[in-house]
Amino acid sequence: MPDKAALLIGPLVHARSEWASVSKITSKLHEYPDGSRDDFLSKCRSGEYDDVFAMYRSNDSNRITGNFDSELISALPSSLKYICHNGAGYDNIDIAACTERGIQVSSTPIAVNNATADVAMFLVLGALRNVTHCFQAVRKGKWRGDFKLGHDPKDKTLGILGMGGIGSALAVRAKAFGMNIQYHNRHRLPEQQENGAKYVGFDELLETSDVLSLNLALSDSTRHIIGKKEFAEMKDGVVLVNTARGPLIDEEALVEALESRKVWTAGLDVFEKEPEIHEGLLRNENVVLLPHIGTATFETQRDMELLVLDNLRSAIKEGKLLTQVPEQKKDS
Ligand SMILES: *[C@@H]1O[C@H](CO)[C@@H](O)[C@H](O)[C@H]1NC(C)=O
Ligand SMILES: *[C@@H]1O[C@H](CO)[C@@H](O)[C@H](O)[C@H]1NC(C)=O
Ligand SMILES: *[C@@H]1O[C@H](CO)[C@@H](O)[C@H](O)[C@H]1NC(C)=O
Repeated sequence: MPDKAALLIGPLVHARSEWASVSKITSKLHEYPDGSRDDFLSKCRSGEYDDVFAMYRSNDSNRITGNFDSELISALPSSLKYICHNGAGYDNIDIAACTERGIQVSSTPIAVNNATADVAMFLVLGALRNVTHCFQAVRKGKWRGDFKLGHDPKDKTLGILGMGGIGSALAVRAKAFGMNIQYHNRHRLPEQQENGAKYVGFDELLETSDVLSLNLALSDSTRHIIGKKEFAEMKDGVVLVNTARGPLIDEEALVEALESRKVWTAGLDVFEKEPEIHEGLLRNENVVLLPHIGTATFETQRDMELLVLDNLRSAIKEGKLLTQVPEQKKDS
């Protein structure tokens, strides 16, 4: 396969030998394990990567290059046709700019579903049991401390905003705990995919859920989809869980809703300005906090790396991605 090189930006940890074997179908494997945005841009502009046909990048590599915005995308070599991204979310890639340059982009849905749903269920239970105070008290030698009773998941209504792969995997778990499942998507799912969950409108979801879980992607239209107005529509004492993306929630409004007891407790794995966390969340014992560890398991990290490499191989051999981002699939 002459003249088709691949470029890896940032770390690849769990599938090194599979990456090495990509050399069988490429002319060269470039790696850019660390550096800076300026350095990377100057390497692109100097022609160092002019043979690169497909690229592996990850959310972790964003630390090195910064966002794949229109500036960076316009500096990429014209030979580059595929960006294989490791991550279910890809809000740090300007997809429209890629499409315009004829670059196809894949992400890693599916591989992340179970691990993220596990963390969502953990947060649902943790928030229902108000565990933060107990976690802290027992380690300080105070046993239960100033312990308060929690709630059972059984017979509570779980509202899932965004019934995709992760939302559906959460629904399976929550059903096993006796919860009733309802969901909202822009479009209703085919009945056999609903698995007994009830489809409701956005407002009805807010008004009737005891626990609300966010499992949708971040985009311009979903940024702050939960804010002051939406909290006002919710049941008093609602429990809110977010394992998707921080900016889906107006964090300032969440802090207010927690302080007014509109929101009983919350479980959060993602934050509006992570790794920074709003002071009002840090000091509130009614919030269960995790530092964005949804997919952080050995098994899932390896599955994600393998899926990126499957996309890379398919791009090189067949000129086709396996899990292309939906924004591009629409118009192809
Ligand atoms: C993705 O990268 C951003 C910084 O660009 C970071 O805040 C976020 O926690 C990362 N997400 C994951 C899942 O590692
Ligand atoms: C997720 O878990 C279910 C049930 O254990 C399993 O059938 C499915 O294959 C898993 N999905 C992935 C992508 O690993
Ligand atoms: C959670 O537990 C803490 C510590 O006992 C308590 O101050 C707080 O009121 C409890 N939260 C709820 C919503 O009951």
